[in-house]
Amino acid sequence: MEERNKTLGEFIIENQNAFQYSSGELSRIINSIRLAAKVVNYKVNKAGLVDIIGAAGERNIQGEDQQKLDVYANEVFIQTLINREIVCGIASEENDDFITVEGSDKSHNNKYVVLMDPLDGSSNIDVNVSVGTIFSVYRRITPIGTPVTIEDFLQPGINQVAAGYVIYGTSTMIVYTTGHGVNGFTLNPAIGTFYLSHPNMQFSKDGPIYSINEGNYVHFPQGVKNYIKYCQTEEEDRPYTSRYIGSLVSDIHRNMIKGGIYIYPTSSKAPKGKLRLLYECNPMAFIVEQAGGKASDGFGRIMEIIPTELHQRVPFFCGSYNMVEKAEEFMLKAELSKY
Ligand code: AHG
Ligand code: MN
Ligand code: MN
Repeated sequence: MEERNKTLGEFIIENQNAFQYSSGELSRIINSIRLAAKVVNYKVNKAGLVDIIGAAGERNIQGEDQQKLDVYANEVFIQTLINREIVCGIASEENDDFITVEGSDKSHNNKYVVLMDPLDGSSNIDVNVSVGTIFSVYRRITPIGTPVTIEDFLQPGINQVAAGYVIYGTSTMIVYTTGHGVNGFTLNPAIGTFYLSHPNMQFSKDGPIYSINEGNYVHFPQGVKNYIKYCQTEEEDRPYTSRYIGSLVSDIHRNMIKGGIYIYPTSSKAPKGKLRLLYECNPMAFIVEQAGGKASDGFGRIMEIIPTELHQRVPFFCGSYNMVEKAEEFMLKAELSKY
């Protein structure tokens, strides 16, 4: 019971003490994300009111349109991290280029960079469906004291020191890992505090759910088509249930709790897939692996891919270990049958 009452703030402090040589920078990054998440949560929750409020005055008086929520979330997360001078660089799905952060004394003395998808599933905002924020933290490669360069951001996922997501759902949660398992914290909106509600989250090895946008079926590679048929075939624990929200964060969060596989494959329309390696797949892969699951591009481990560009896309298969392994089997078999 006591464990369940722990706040995210307390959890961060306890875990910082566990790292003997920790400078506290990583803890401060998680703390900033906690703060930004609350600000964005407030705005997401009144999304349906924005037009009403705007029409009643805001827009007319200031003469400017309401910001789109993904632009707003982007600014909140970036500004929170910049103001606290705790990172040396930020890359965001919403920005073409990475941002170099310097301290107020013009120094570059921080050692971490943050990469993020500030609002994931943003097309779901209009219909009151859960959206999220995804973040990923790396230690810089270039020397401390110098401005960051692109190579600080183009690191394989295995180099991540922390990753997580915020889900703005029926409840708002922060779920994250620093490489020692995955923990989930639920916001009590009445007092603005996150409590440890889901300690040590784990994917079951097999699950009852498959999640894929089946509307694109005709465009999928043969291996994926065959795997979908496998999911739908009557057997001991099949057919699986199909669940697809269209918000990566929500789809993976549900599958982590209930067991399942999520797939966003390549297709003839999107030959490299749709999801971004650095802002979506790597952080999710880190969480999924830390929760005992598996994350793949269909043929190999997501986190071992060496990125070549910031906004790189990649096919994504992740979730319950045995299910992803089975999907990989289908991919390989279809690939080999081409020859
Ligand atoms: P974003 O809102 O950050 O652009 O991401 C949307 C992504 C992801 O959340 C989701 O899983 C996927 O797009 C859904 O794509 P489809 O509509 O093609 O299924
Ligand atoms: Mn996204
Ligand atoms: Mn986004």
